[in-house]
Amino acid sequence: MERNMEGTTVNVTVPAGAQASYEVRIGSGLLGRIPGETAELLPGARPFVVTDANLEKAGHLAAMAGDGFEDVYSIDPPGESSKTIETVEGIIDAMEQKRFGRDTVVLALGGGTVGDVAGFAAAIYKRGVPCVQIPTTTVAQADSAIGGKTGVDSKLSKNAYGAFHNPVRVYVDCATLRTLDDRDYRAGLVESVKHGMIMDAEYFGYMEAHMDGILARDDAALLHLAERNCAIKGRVVAEDPKEKGLRRILNYGHTIGHAVESLSGYALLHGEAVAIGIVGACRVAEALGSGAAEVTARAKAVLEKLGVPLRIEGIAKEPILDTMRRDKKSVGGRARFVLLKNMGETDPAGGGYAVEVPADIVDATLSELGAG
Ligand SMILES: NC(=O)c1ccc[n+]([C@@H]2O[C@H](COP(=O)([O-])OP(=O)(O)OC[C@H]3O[C@@H](n4cnc5c(N)ncnc54)[C@H](O)[C@@H]3O)[C@@H](O)[C@H]2O)c1
Ligand SMILES: [Zn+2]
Repeated sequence: MERNMEGTTVNVTVPAGAQASYEVRIGSGLLGRIPGETAELLPGARPFVVTDANLEKAGHLAAMAGDGFEDVYSIDPPGESSKTIETVEGIIDAMEQKRFGRDTVVLALGGGTVGDVAGFAAAIYKRGVPCVQIPTTTVAQADSAIGGKTGVDSKLSKNAYGAFHNPVRVYVDCATLRTLDDRDYRAGLVESVKHGMIMDAEYFGYMEAHMDGILARDDAALLHLAERNCAIKGRVVAEDPKEKGLRRILNYGHTIGHAVESLSGYALLHGEAVAIGIVGACRVAEALGSGAAEVTARAKAVLEKLGVPLRIEGIAKEPILDTMRRDKKSVGGRARFVLLKNMGETDPAGGGYAVEVPADIVDATLSELGAG
């Protein structure tokens, strides 16, 4: 990991397995630098921008492109419903019609939806062209833009189509978060809380102490979050690029989280569901005798300040158990949990980082969380 400060810019280098590493440039008000710096990074490459209508409306496309880019595909409608193979086809058709060749660079300006769709289109267009990720949500800046996972949903399941395709560079511009809707903003921060809990107790302590600045979207707080998030996610994915072991810790809070997210019919945002899942994972660890009540209390307090739900409402226990058993991460029909030994430290569980939990403990935890 290399870092250097120039003004408010922090560069974090993410080693990407056997492939070349990529730089994450973090700052506030960086968008205008992207065209020139991309031309330096990939001389002669033709930029193709993928974004969505909300980013255009918020002025971020104009801030990045000025009148510099002619080739822009705007995903419409914005959001998860457009994370489909048809959208990828639309992007690829547009690139072909304009005779984009292997010298293309895809610039993905937006949240996780834009990043996943554009990254996947870049992964498969003419067997792969480079992609620059420019995440603009708390989810995308903390999570989806780093690590190389790309993909789209099928009619039946999320991320059914997908590929690993590392970006050639990531720009985290904290200023873009100021135009994000409050509920999305807060829910996305749950992934930051998760990062602190699994890897970095000091970072968790920072969030405890600076929640006011974080919620006010102050530059100093946002830059610190971005730097810690990228360092933590970067370190995990560098050690385990294809999720064979350590990378599983990023699923902390996601065992119960994924189940309640999907059973809510996606009425719960991903981060909101993960917040409930984090409290669940804390209580499971306590029940197994490995986790401390103090960790649970601190997690709850930070998540409460974020204003995300911490209880399951209107969802019965049986379907949750059933969904957890069918989850792709379960083994032999038994749900597995990433658990903490302490704040900032996960249970390595013999290198698998996921613990099988007896059914009665899972059952009792779900009841305690409010499942009917
Ligand atoms: N690849 C990965 O590793 C990974 C990790 C986590 C999540 N994801 C994926 O990310 C997606 C969710 O991403 P998301 O939460 O960023 O949602 P999103 O991309 O759908 O964005 C949410 C909404 O905010 C709008 N928006 C984005 N940035 C904005 C800004 N700066 N100002 C105003 N509006 C803005 C979008 O137009 C959209 O309407 C899911 O599909 C999920 O599967 C992928
Ligand atoms: Zn998540």
